[in-house]
Amino acid sequence: MDRVGIKKVAEHLKQNSDAQVIFMVGAGISTPCGIPDFRSPKTGLYSNLSRLGLPFPEAVFDIDYFEENPKPFYTLARELYPGNFKPSRFHYLMKVFEEKGRLHRVYTQNIDTLEREATISEKYLVEAHGSFASNECISCSKSYSVDRFKEKLEPVKIQHKKGEKDQIEFEYALCDKCDSLVKPSIVFFGESLPARFFDTWEKDLEWLKDKKKKNLVIVVGTSLSVYPFASLPSEVPSEVPRVLWNYEVVGDFHLNPRSSDVIFKGSSDEAAEELAMEMGWNEELRKLVGEEEPRPMDAAEEVAAIASELEQLDITNDNKEE
Ligand code: OAD
Ligand code: ZN
Repeated sequence: MDRVGIKKVAEHLKQNSDAQVIFMVGAGISTPCGIPDFRSPKTGLYSNLSRLGLPFPEAVFDIDYFEENPKPFYTLARELYPGNFKPSRFHYLMKVFEEKGRLHRVYTQNIDTLEREATISEKYLVEAHGSFASNECISCSKSYSVDRFKEKLEPVKIQHKKGEKDQIEFEYALCDKCDSLVKPSIVFFGESLPARFFDTWEKDLEWLKDKKKKNLVIVVGTSLSVYPFASLPSEVPSEVPRVLWNYEVVGDFHLNPRSSDVIFKGSSDEAAEELAMEMGWNEELRKLVGEEEPRPMDAAEEVAAIASELEQLDITNDNKEE
């Protein structure tokens, strides 16, 4: 197994004791929690949404489509609603970074609120695509309580017909003031990202330019295909090493690779386990995860690990690092 991309990060952090990290993360860090990502070919949400009868998969998060037909979003939100899932090892690794004073920021595209669940403090957190933590009217922005919205996700009618898919009916949440539809504060396609995303990134870019600190940017579990988030890695100043931990090489790491890029092709949880070991943080991580012993790899992770190993062999046969 090629873990060079993890060992290098550990060495860097050990050699530069005041270096801190900005994490940029996506759905891949939550797949070990049982939440599907979006674009993985067989297991991703977008290839499994045919049952919702959408014109195109992303329509489930499209603001115009939602106004026309909120049912697919309600069906999905019911399944994905926070509270049903526990943070992954990787989420907790970010918390260990916070505890050790090595965390500068977490930019997340995820709406599952598992960073909060892992008790990462709000000041470090930028939920770039919003979250289920509040709701607003789509016309007048009046807020709507989380408890009331959650009640609306309970179907008012489910029709079971033999040989057919269940027909679910909802009573949609409507604004108390103007009667328009209400939705969670998740950024849909066609909506802008929260001001905190832009403001914080502007400050963090300045912070990254401080050459003395030897800070790092670590990108994990994202296909880097949704903008503007996807452009963050390309804006990282050239003197700051960029790290990618992902099943595949994506975005700017693929299109405009830099000689200083550090890449580990594998699972986010495996990277978390390995880095914690290299840093001597295993006990802290285990305590947060609430486990006595390290978790064995699950079958999907094992397959991915083997695949990535084989790929490494093909490409770097001549000067392979052992
Ligand atoms: P994607 O599904 O597009 O990408 C997930 C990436 O993580 C893929 O490259 C996978 O190969 C990889 N991956 C999956 N599980 C992994 C694991 N355990 N370890 C390492 N890598 C893993 O998800 P995002 O990039 O987050 O918008 O998608 C971006 C946005 O598109 C989402 O925020 C969402 C969607 O439309 C909203 O929810 C508003
Ligand atoms: Zn309203």
